[in-house]
Amino acid sequence: MKFIRSKIIGHGHYTPKKVLTNDDMAKIVDTNDEWITTRTGIKSRCVVEEEVNSDLSFHAAEMALKTAKISAQDINLIVLATITPDNTTPATAIRVGQKLGVKSGTPAFDLSAACSGFVYALTMADNMIRLGQVKTALVIGAETLSKVTDWTDRNTCVLFGDGAGAVVLQAVEENGTNQDIGILSTKIFADGNNYDHLKTTGGVSTTQTTGFITMDGKEVFKAAIGCLAQAAEEAAQIAGINVKDIDWLLPHQANIRIIDGVGKKLELPEEKVIVNIAPHGNTSAASIPLALSEKITDGTIKKGDLIILTAMGAGFTWGGAVIRL
Ligand code: UT7
Repeated sequence: MKFIRSKIIGHGHYTPKKVLTNDDMAKIVDTNDEWITTRTGIKSRCVVEEEVNSDLSFHAAEMALKTAKISAQDINLIVLATITPDNTTPATAIRVGQKLGVKSGTPAFDLSAACSGFVYALTMADNMIRLGQVKTALVIGAETLSKVTDWTDRNTCVLFGDGAGAVVLQAVEENGTNQDIGILSTKIFADGNNYDHLKTTGGVSTTQTTGFITMDGKEVFKAAIGCLAQAAEEAAQIAGINVKDIDWLLPHQANIRIIDGVGKKLELPEEKVIVNIAPHGNTSAASIPLALSEKITDGTIKKGDLIILTAMGAGFTWGGAVIRL
């Protein structure tokens, strides 16, 4: 019996040209390279100047279409995970579709799940593909977090960066086993009891502003390793694979100490854990697709590799996915 899976047939990433190093940050707030490096693993972050979210998304998507060797006309769905859209409405995904030149009528929407946004978006697109509703989907994670950063708050402003990553998913017929190519499982979670630990200080319906990111770092840190490990383990269980058999763990890039902690909790050797936080910082929904595309591009992640994605962020939201590339 045929079994539909979503296969990643293309990948793309893009970051703005302007880079702020830790030394640059020390000129903005009372901080230093040593603190930022040892506490977070971050060395620099990219920030937008003139560009907006749909520009970053467009460039990442363009590369994803190119590596997939398909045209924008072949896309049947766009899902864009972000908390920093161009406008409150319409969805930035629709602007990206217009810039790419997708067919009129192609559904496109934004999805808000903070740092777990890409795993949530992948889940939505994968389910629509497996239901036979669409054949080819563009899934993007993109953020201009510099626009919701309080540049006077050293607790948060050193952490975040701007960027975008994208994948093209396409329906393929597989056997329905854990040896298949494509997305083997997804699992998403949320818990509103942690709503206030990481949020913006405002929003459309409350303050008629976007507000700035505020975080109780310690509370988020305490929960992060457990959430990331749980999402990875449950996604592995659904896929019918053992965590120890994966080639790569690709965790959300928020803090090197969290990344190391989740690798240890899952008893994975360091070499299997993807880390690219140093040049980017925390790019929220962009973090996982940006790292995935960079590591496929530089040859680290190869066709056939078994990967677990795991993410956690504001809400709290968290989620995992198992993919055989
Ligand atoms: O993306 C969603 C998920 N987000 C996360 O996973 C983030 C989770 N949290 C974290 O990564 C960490 O909690 C932080 C990196 C945000 C903070 O690290 P920490 O080890 O928890 O530091 P802390 O908040 O306990 O602060 C320690 C000290 C404080 O000084 P005092 O009160 O001990 O004198 C802070 O004021 O470090 C100080 N501090 C800084 N010093 C220099 C805080 N930020 C800075 C800074 N530069 N940028």
